[in-house]
Amino acid sequence: MRVCTGWRRFLIFLPLLFFFPHFFSVMELHQKAAVETIHKKQSKKSDHLVLGPAAGQGLPNRLQCQGTRALNKTHFSAYGASSAGDNIALVTVFTIYNTSLGGRADKPLSLFTVGNVSYNKEEKSMAILNAFISFTQVSMPRSNIIILTDPASDLAVHRNRVTVHPIQGEYSRDKLMLQRIRSYIAFLETRIKELSQRQGPAHHYIFTDSDMAVVGDLGHIFRDFPNFHLALTFRNNKEQPLNSGFIAVRGTHDGLLRAKIFLQKVLNVYRSKYMSASRMLGDQLALAWVVRSNPSFDARRFSKAQAFLEDVGGASVLFLPCAVYNWTPPEGAGQFHGIPLDVKVVHFKGSRKRLMLESWNFFSSSDISDMLCLILMSGRTKYDF
Ligand SMILES: *[C@@H]1O[C@H](CO)[C@@H](O)[C@H](O)[C@H]1NC(C)=O
Ligand SMILES: *[C@@H]1O[C@H](CO)[C@@H](O)[C@H](O)[C@H]1NC(C)=O
Ligand SMILES: *[C@@H]1O[C@H](CO)[C@@H](O)[C@H](O)[C@H]1NC(C)=O
Repeated sequence: MRVCTGWRRFLIFLPLLFFFPHFFSVMELHQKAAVETIHKKQSKKSDHLVLGPAAGQGLPNRLQCQGTRALNKTHFSAYGASSAGDNIALVTVFTIYNTSLGGRADKPLSLFTVGNVSYNKEEKSMAILNAFISFTQVSMPRSNIIILTDPASDLAVHRNRVTVHPIQGEYSRDKLMLQRIRSYIAFLETRIKELSQRQGPAHHYIFTDSDMAVVGDLGHIFRDFPNFHLALTFRNNKEQPLNSGFIAVRGTHDGLLRAKIFLQKVLNVYRSKYMSASRMLGDQLALAWVVRSNPSFDARRFSKAQAFLEDVGGASVLFLPCAVYNWTPPEGAGQFHGIPLDVKVVHFKGSRKRLMLESWNFFSSSDISDMLCLILMSGRTKYDF
């Protein structure tokens, strides 16, 4: 009996001997998994889409959804009109940091998967830029895209109607928002020069963040509001009524010049008052300061989501509601009433870059209004990038 038990014991333990090295690694894995779970709980950032209820249901002029199927498509029917974007260029600042190129030897590469594609950090930023280009080209097929970048960043974008325009400057992360205004100004200077040497129709410019999806034709603002020099987007927010992610400039000599002077003022205010906020919000605070410094300006107009014109220091500025031209998935409860049916631009601010790539991925097998339902339902979640 004893012998038998002994054998049995041996037989039972034998497999464990084999498993010993594995056992340690499994334990390590478990510990890692536990750390990851804690980390995820703390930051609450999701690596996949989380669908919730769609806001704005039952409200007139808001997109109505049944799951990720849109019940209204009306305003998007003009979508993709083949002439949309004629004489318009979207201009964005984009640079690659070589710290993000590949992974360091002591740090494993983290991969981000969207659909059936995995990206490392650098590929992920390029994918966002590519999604920006793709959305713009679907919505405004005749538009051009100009990427302002650090001459030192080796940016290779080989797409039709896309040009890379290097502008000397200081593109470090903590100076990027400041540099962005400088790059806009430098770019406008080149356009003013170019305009003096050519005849023909005006080429309008729209400076945008690259984490935006253009989902409608923006060309109509230049036709519907023939008198503005530059356009900004506003929302009903006391501290930060203006978002710097969308600045349209009329391509006439006057438009380019007034926009340049306006941005120079913003730059000076930024440098003199808001340098401590330079990494993130300085440009928006400076923008608001310049607008409010106009004695006749009535900030109450920001409380109603309706476009209006206002003279700001010699420039005719068109104020466009963020709800349509810079729509951001909800950041807080209460201020969120769904997606207007005439939405033109969706802004994937902060931890919503994943949602931008997921949306493009979803769009490839659906249509723009269904995709907007997906964004409406999943935009409350903070994602891993
Ligand atoms: C949007 O669709 C819903 C559901 O079909 C409908 O009741 C509503 O009238 C539509 N809204 C508009 C503005 O067409
Ligand atoms: C990934 O998905 C797309 C669209 O669903 C498909 O066209 C493509 O072939 C897939 N690629 C791979 C490598 O599976
Ligand atoms: C980063 O890129 C710049 C410009 O290409 C280069 O001068 C510099 O040496 C690079 N730094 C590292 C650490 O690779």
